[in-house]
Amino acid sequence: MKGLVTSSPGGWQNTRLEQVDLRVGRPEEVLVEIRAVGLNPADNFQIEGKYPGGPQPPFLPGRDACGVVIQGDSTGRWQPGDEVVALQTSTSNLRDGTLCEQQWLAAENLARKPRGWSDVEAAAAPLAYQTAWKALFDVGALEAGQTVVVTGASGGVGLACVQLASALGARVVALSRSEEKRQKLQRLGASHVFAPDHPQLKDQIFSAIGAKGVSLVVENVGGPSLATSIHLLGVHGRVSVVGLLAGVESVVPLPSLMFKRASIHGVLVTDDSPPKAQSSWKALVELMNSKQIRPIVCATYPLDSVEKAFKHLGGDVFGKVVVEIPSAM
Ligand SMILES: NC(=O)c1ccc[n+]([C@@H]2O[C@H](COP(=O)([O-])OP(=O)(O)OC[C@H]3O[C@@H](n4cnc5c(N)ncnc54)[C@H](OP(=O)(O)O)[C@@H]3O)[C@@H](O)[C@H]2O)c1
Repeated sequence: MKGLVTSSPGGWQNTRLEQVDLRVGRPEEVLVEIRAVGLNPADNFQIEGKYPGGPQPPFLPGRDACGVVIQGDSTGRWQPGDEVVALQTSTSNLRDGTLCEQQWLAAENLARKPRGWSDVEAAAAPLAYQTAWKALFDVGALEAGQTVVVTGASGGVGLACVQLASALGARVVALSRSEEKRQKLQRLGASHVFAPDHPQLKDQIFSAIGAKGVSLVVENVGGPSLATSIHLLGVHGRVSVVGLLAGVESVVPLPSLMFKRASIHGVLVTDDSPPKAQSSWKALVELMNSKQIRPIVCATYPLDSVEKAFKHLGGDVFGKVVVEIPSAM
């Protein structure tokens, strides 16, 4: 079968589409024909050897997937023909990824493809929407009526946060560097939108929502953004740290943190056990379906153009970049 392979010593110069042998599956695994794969910055970090704890090459990158079961597991939980998505959990296999025509995936990490969603929509959702759910509601304890600021709001996780938080009745302040994307974010449910680099950002936000500050910031950007995020918090406010696209080190304004009794929490989507991931997925799909929300996909590419798809992901995105894989059967 065809698959994207990162060979030793890693990096894009050693990553290419090639014919690979499908490994032997285990009884607790399901053989899935992969139809679509949502790309994530973590896939790129893994290829470049920058993902802490990631596998050593050779490996097949790719985490998200939507596909069809070819061969079920030994318990009979999954049957040939079932349409499934791969969830991200503490047992997800980062060595044998999804950017290939077929893969053995753990039965406990599969969920049924949501009814009415296309393959591309379903493949776009798991990692980004599970992360958003964790950052907003598990770690962030966001409730209806509270205000959340989302940095990097036009990205995969950012848009998921905007959609899920507004669906639950929270007030969403979305930050994006692009005026065009800010307008789109407002149409998707953000109450207020701002440019993150405006010198009076805090004053702008406080004049829009009140000077008491916000309950939660989902920090998708990191680096210098974290200090601003802490300044935006109200008393007992929380920051869910998800991403670090703008830098891996930040300054923490200690007086602001201390006097507000605020907290900063790291979020890792693969922290969830398979049962926890299944229950979050079920809840988020129900919420999205009840509000008729679908994952936002900004572009699709065929598997043969997977490098181009990754370049798009590293550039200008609004939602998810998805790779489609034609059936080889
Ligand atoms: N902790 C976890 O479990 C977990 C899970 C998923 C993702 N992540 C991480 O979370 C981050 C976001 O993921 P994603 O999938 O949403 O990424 P994405 O789709 O690439 O989007 C990120 C957004 O952040 C903004 N951005 C990008 N580079 C920036 C920079 N240098 N400075 C300021 N803003 C920048 C962009 O928004 P504008 O152009 O509109 O400003 C972009 O749309 C990544 O670091 C990813 O690795 C972590």
